[in-house]
Amino acid sequence: MADVRPNARPRPEPTEGARVIFLGPPGAGKGTQAGRLAGHLRIPKISTGDMLREAIAAGTALGRIAGPLMEKGGLVPDDLLDRIIGERLRMKDAQNGYILDGFPRTLRQAEGFEGMTRGDATEQFFVFNVEVPRPELLKRLSGRRWCPHCQSTYHVDNNPPKDDSLCDKDRTLLIQREDDKETAVARRLAEYDERTAPLIDYYRGRSRFHTVDGYRPPDAVFAELKGIVGGKAAS
Ligand code: AP5
Repeated sequence: MADVRPNARPRPEPTEGARVIFLGPPGAGKGTQAGRLAGHLRIPKISTGDMLREAIAAGTALGRIAGPLMEKGGLVPDDLLDRIIGERLRMKDAQNGYILDGFPRTLRQAEGFEGMTRGDATEQFFVFNVEVPRPELLKRLSGRRWCPHCQSTYHVDNNPPKDDSLCDKDRTLLIQREDDKETAVARRLAEYDERTAPLIDYYRGRSRFHTVDGYRPPDAVFAELKGIVGGKAAS
């Protein structure tokens, strides 16, 4: 019911047609927050990591190229990413906004994305740069458990499944992602520093860019994100 108190501030409505990019190192909580924000805004979460893992599981040509690179913590070539994102953004459910989790990840990808979306309105284009101290990233990645069936993620301490090591949604046995093992994590962090961190300067000043402290409980991070996308008054 509407709040009719005389001085009540209008509650911001979820932003129409939002386009959101999440930047941040591995383990910052991008996927966790992207999923929650997608539910809040009723737009799809598009995770390139999930799409690539699906391709690996399905044994497609893309999966056969991506698999060995991902397992070692390297990046998949830009031209493949441009293609899968280009196809995904043309799908019907992405016509009224979307949340990108894990893309773009290189300057080349950012430029390609800009070309694909040239002409789209920019006022509802948000970039969230999620910051988390490195020792915490290592704890989150080493404790993450993952459902190979529905791609839900858990954490052995922060977000354990209800029933021992089974996914809450489909009771599949949870596993550790191959790229969450120590050597691959070191490579992923190095790739982030070298190839993805420069996107922070690329997007600062170009869009509604917000650095978010991700070293807080998930609910606190989400409350801040909702406040930002909730309406123009909150930006
Ligand atoms: P991708 O799947 O995108 O992995 P990532 O970017 O490395 O990110 P993560 O999924 O590891 O972390 P996250 O920030 O989403 O954190 P999460 O919410 O899960 O990519 C994997 C690989 O695919 C890449 O290495 C690359 O090879 C390839 N790839 C993908 N996109 C590509 C692209 N564009 N170009 C080229 N290659 C590409 O949280 C982590 C853990 O912490 C969880 O256990 C979670 O429960 C917990 N957690 C979350 N939030 C909090 C919190 N606030 N407090 C405490 N714990 C928390």
